[in-house]
Amino acid sequence: FEQTAIKQDLTGQHWVITAGPTMEAIDPVRYISNHSSGKMGYALATAAQARGASVTLISGPVQCAAPHGVNLVSVKSADEMLAACESNMTQQADVFIGAAAVADFKMKTATDQKMKKQSDSDEIQLTLVKNPDIIATLTQKKRAKYMVGFAAETQKVVEYAKGKLVKKGLDIIIANDVSRTDIGFNQDQNQVTVITKDNTWSPSKAAKKELATQLVSFIYEYTASTPS
Ligand code: CTP
Ligand code: CA
Repeated sequence: FEQTAIKQDLTGQHWVITAGPTMEAIDPVRYISNHSSGKMGYALATAAQARGASVTLISGPVQCAAPHGVNLVSVKSADEMLAACESNMTQQADVFIGAAAVADFKMKTATDQKMKKQSDSDEIQLTLVKNPDIIATLTQKKRAKYMVGFAAETQKVVEYAKGKLVKKGLDIIIANDVSRTDIGFNQDQNQVTVITKDNTWSPSKAAKKELATQLVSFIYEYTASTPS
């Protein structure tokens, strides 16, 4: 009986990974969020740690168990997620993977008291403002040598993802078709297309844990063969 040990070729590297949704307060009892389960980001953190990396996982509210040996930082809002990324990347990280489904908007002003229904109107208007783009901010500040994003799309998946790769200045973008109900948000399986400036690669549909191992290998090989 022979057990194959996982190669420890990421020893000495620091990988920072975001996961899960963010939660934007409307008032003390209500929030805006999305269906991200965190499974993909947690699987990536587990896979990178298993290969020897020191991993910081910055996570929005999820049900996933904390992966062993990973530095888990729990946050709620996008603003908190960006602040946690920055404070954990004061020394340039080797790889950043933005797997979080960051809420695009937050309340312009979250009220500190519970909002009351108005009896004279059947409508309510909430004014939302854009959240900071976490991965674009970190890329601009060169907080990691290599930047990997995800793109959640419901149509023109590869075309839109390529646009985000260029616009955000990323090295790699992993495109996810979130219109399908058998993969992606909240599912245990995923199918993605991995896009770099020069190549695209579509690994077959697989369990997120298995896919995460393949993605970590791809990212590592990319970093080993591409100047940062
Ligand atoms: N992202 C981020 N900060 C945001 C929004 C997104 O860091 N405020 C990151 C995500 O973690 C992901 C990538 O950007 O790695 C793409 O996210 P996505 O929602 O697909 O793209 P957006 O740029 O938000 O564009 P849109 O939702 O309009 O398609
Ligand atoms: Ca978005």
